[in-house]
Amino acid sequence: MLRILVVNGPNLNLLGRREPDVYGTATLDEIEAMVATRAAELGVDVYFFQSNHEGAIIDRLHEAIDVCDGVVINPGAYTHYSYAIRDAIAAIGMPSVEVHLSDISAREDFRAVSVTAPVCIDQVSGLGAASYLEGLELLVSRLREED
Ligand code: DQA
Repeated sequence: MLRILVVNGPNLNLLGRREPDVYGTATLDEIEAMVATRAAELGVDVYFFQSNHEGAIIDRLHEAIDVCDGVVINPGAYTHYSYAIRDAIAAIGMPSVEVHLSDISAREDFRAVSVTAPVCIDQVSGLGAASYLEGLELLVSRLREED
């Protein structure tokens, strides 16, 4: 069975109470439950990780080597400037899809730049919690095409 790691970066632990007008009212637990349900429908295993720390995210990505088949990642604000997370995504050598709740192209200028997207196979942005579901589906289809 395909194994997918779902990574959430800084401040996403506060979803539900964090700027709900921008990010919606679903908590991270609720979003993860939605992803787990869709993963079960798709017949894949999912593992969840959230951290507010760049190095912890990098360590978790490294741990996925030889264990997972692909990654869905919302790097939070690290999207816009973490070359270290970008390098980690490239280093682990498995397909990754970047997801965002908000439409990062339609907000402040600094958010329109993603340094991580170029090493991902796709980016899904602006669909709220559904971005994670779309990201998971894109990743699973790509992995199944590879077989
Ligand atoms: C975000 C967008 C980022 O710009 C922001 O820093 C986040 C959340 C999103 O999911 O819309 O923390 O990644």
